[in-house]
Amino acid sequence: MILITGGAGFIGSTLIRYLLAHTQESIVNLDALSYSGNLDSLKDVANSERYHFVHADICDANSVKQVFDQFKPTAVMHLAAESHVDRSIDNASAFMQTNIIGTFTLLEVCREYWSTLTTDAKAAFRFHHISTDEVFGDLSSDEAPFSEQTSYKPSSPYSASKASSDHLVNAWHRTYGLPVVVSHCSNNYGPYQFPEKLIPHTILNALAGKPLTVYGNGLQVRDWLHVEDHVRGLYQVLTHGEVGQSYNIGGLNQVTNIDVVNSICELLEQLAPEAKQGCQSYAELITYVDDRPGHDSRYAIDASKIQAQLGWQPEHDFKLGLAATVKWYIDNPCWWQQILTGDYRLNRLGKG
Ligand SMILES: NC(=O)c1ccc[n+]([C@@H]2O[C@H](COP(=O)([O-])OP(=O)(O)OC[C@H]3O[C@@H](n4cnc5c(N)ncnc54)[C@H](O)[C@@H]3O)[C@@H](O)[C@H]2O)c1
Repeated sequence: MILITGGAGFIGSTLIRYLLAHTQESIVNLDALSYSGNLDSLKDVANSERYHFVHADICDANSVKQVFDQFKPTAVMHLAAESHVDRSIDNASAFMQTNIIGTFTLLEVCREYWSTLTTDAKAAFRFHHISTDEVFGDLSSDEAPFSEQTSYKPSSPYSASKASSDHLVNAWHRTYGLPVVVSHCSNNYGPYQFPEKLIPHTILNALAGKPLTVYGNGLQVRDWLHVEDHVRGLYQVLTHGEVGQSYNIGGLNQVTNIDVVNSICELLEQLAPEAKQGCQSYAELITYVDDRPGHDSRYAIDASKIQAQLGWQPEHDFKLGLAATVKWYIDNPCWWQQILTGDYRLNRLGKG
């Protein structure tokens, strides 16, 4: 029984679908259904006997404790977080609350529960903290990619709050012996990503004939990883990672933001030429705007440790994966239209 926090989000829902399809694990998904949590992403698996959902906040110790008492998990995969850098710049408080206080609360409840287990169960237990490459700050164009030894240098309120949570998790291992593993991942893309993030934002704005806003000169470099490759890596880290270690997971695929936006425009010309609204070409909609404050210029991940020690490799080719993602958004308007209208928030009533 794996307790997954944030399982109604982009990566969490992909992880749950993966675990139910490819393993025998049972899952309890603890999610507060914040603006980015969407149970529609789990519609296909909601009736599985191996899947349970609890509507709860990781900052609420009593609710979290009830989940541990009822489901007696053998592992925790902690994904619940506030995850959007722009929102953290506008208002950081939810980030401090969920990412720091929420992680602390979860660790404390988990530690108390873990301390009651038998010696064997204690040794087999894992707390897997899912973190980001953004805790390492950014790189100049000629610097070597982030390794597990890279020092922390977070730039945004989001990455600073994730760095804080990493430190808490590592301290709970060192001080209390909680068996933790940590993973740091680069930018994910794929189906079911909330429309505020670069790739879905660009696809949906293009289809609506709205400006495709690009920060600064658009030359910021990101290392894109398909979300299905990420969740496969997460399960490898959970099941084969060494306690107390961290693992970097990356796509080995560095692309500038403007190249991503141009590629999406080209794909839409092929896949949805008739959907253009008030423009001759999708690329006409590209609009440069003032750069984001503190914007990181380049991220790149050295994933050689997880490759060598756990045998993980990314399998998706970025060009093909991006094309499939654009097609998924074109083919699944029901999923994103409810988000754009806000109706998806009504769907949660009665499901908690
Ligand atoms: N998306 C990426 O590219 C990326 C890359 C590296 C690491 N990560 C990390 O992976 C994790 C998941 O990211 P994502 O993109 O799926 O995010 P997301 O925003 O899509 O999902 C976050 C989920 O957490 C839930 N949540 C938020 N606050 C909560 C709270 N207080 N209690 C319980 N649940 C709460 C939300 O309802 C949502 O379902 C995050 O920890 C993020 O830092 C993401």
